[in-house]
Amino acid sequence: MSKVRIGIVGAGRIGKLHAENLRQFKDVEIRAISDIFADQARGWAAQNGIERVTEDYRDILSDPDIDAILICSPTDTHVDIIKEAANAGKHIFCEKPISLDLSKTVQVLQWVKQAGIKFQLGFNRRFDHNMSRVNELLKAGKAGELHILKITSRDPAAPPESYIRSSGGLFADMAIHDFDLARFLTGSDVEEVYVQGAVRVDPVFAECGDIDTAVTTLKFKNGVLGVVVNSRQAHYYDQRVEAFGSAGTIAIQNDTPSTVEWFSSAGGVRRETPLYFFLERYKEAYVKEMRCFVDAVLNDEQVPVDVNDGYQAELIAFAAGISLREKRPVLLAEAEARLAQEV
Ligand SMILES: NC(=O)c1ccc[n+]([C@@H]2O[C@H](COP(=O)([O-])OP(=O)(O)OC[C@H]3O[C@@H](n4cnc5c(N)ncnc54)[C@H](O)[C@@H]3O)[C@@H](O)[C@H]2O)c1
Repeated sequence: MSKVRIGIVGAGRIGKLHAENLRQFKDVEIRAISDIFADQARGWAAQNGIERVTEDYRDILSDPDIDAILICSPTDTHVDIIKEAANAGKHIFCEKPISLDLSKTVQVLQWVKQAGIKFQLGFNRRFDHNMSRVNELLKAGKAGELHILKITSRDPAAPPESYIRSSGGLFADMAIHDFDLARFLTGSDVEEVYVQGAVRVDPVFAECGDIDTAVTTLKFKNGVLGVVVNSRQAHYYDQRVEAFGSAGTIAIQNDTPSTVEWFSSAGGVRRETPLYFFLERYKEAYVKEMRCFVDAVLNDEQVPVDVNDGYQAELIAFAAGISLREKRPVLLAEAEARLAQEV
């Protein structure tokens, strides 16, 4: 195979972003895009050299000239599309999370395995230049033996109520990225989760049965302790990591448009505000994750973030939900046992 022929499902924010990134690759052909509001996507598709726009994603799945699909439609559509795509033998890149129902994600694990296809999940933060450098240094032992991993992840502004209602909640929608990053950086699965959560930003979160602020402590199977600090509203995008170990600390700061500092005659020193949100901060990471997916399909290599990574992050989010409701630490083994009862 010298080119990967791709179809994209969902022409929203993230679908368009991935399409525009894939256009940079000479070994990729975007053959079609589908969106239930196809007419709204036609102008953009034409500008981006995508000739075929369809309302029904099944048109993409039944096209024998398409090797792989990107699932960029809303989360509640993922499971059905994955099932049909796996049956059709298409390789899959799926946006996070796989599902808001962990028992369905368990089924996805089986379908992907049975189909023998590539399945990469959109945990883009692993590909961020800072996060991947921290990972390299940790794996090279530069912090010695890791003791504590701290992840700060705060959004600039809370999403609208309509989004909050269908998001699946702070853990499944937002912290899931941090839970995956934590597994990536520690190189370990999580053993136990304990959450303190609150509504500190806007009462609308409580009306939706959600929280907007959380501190999640994680105990990893390899003995490392972790803490993930989340807020839906920090007024700037705050994405930092600190890895503290027996031989030192490895930390990153937020990315800014420049490193200019302004020493004012009025006193004080000002720096630039961090890059606004995920589209700006993780711009390059989105390109890199696509490059890895395309390479995995072209060269029959392993994907760097697989379906089990998606499941493990969702399992942590599931356990975090139990911990929040029952106000106690929760072992992941217990969460998995509860899940098995539900299935
Ligand atoms: N990795 C990340 O950083 C990241 C960032 C944002 C969103 N996401 C994920 O990406 C997914 C999409 O999010 P978004 O922000 O792009 O949403 P969006 O609402 O901007 O776009 C979704 C698009 O899918 C279309 N759609 C709905 N049902 C469809 C169907 N059955 N077939 C084809 N198209 C359909 C909608 O019309 C819309 O255009 C979600 O799962 C979300 O969690 C991931």
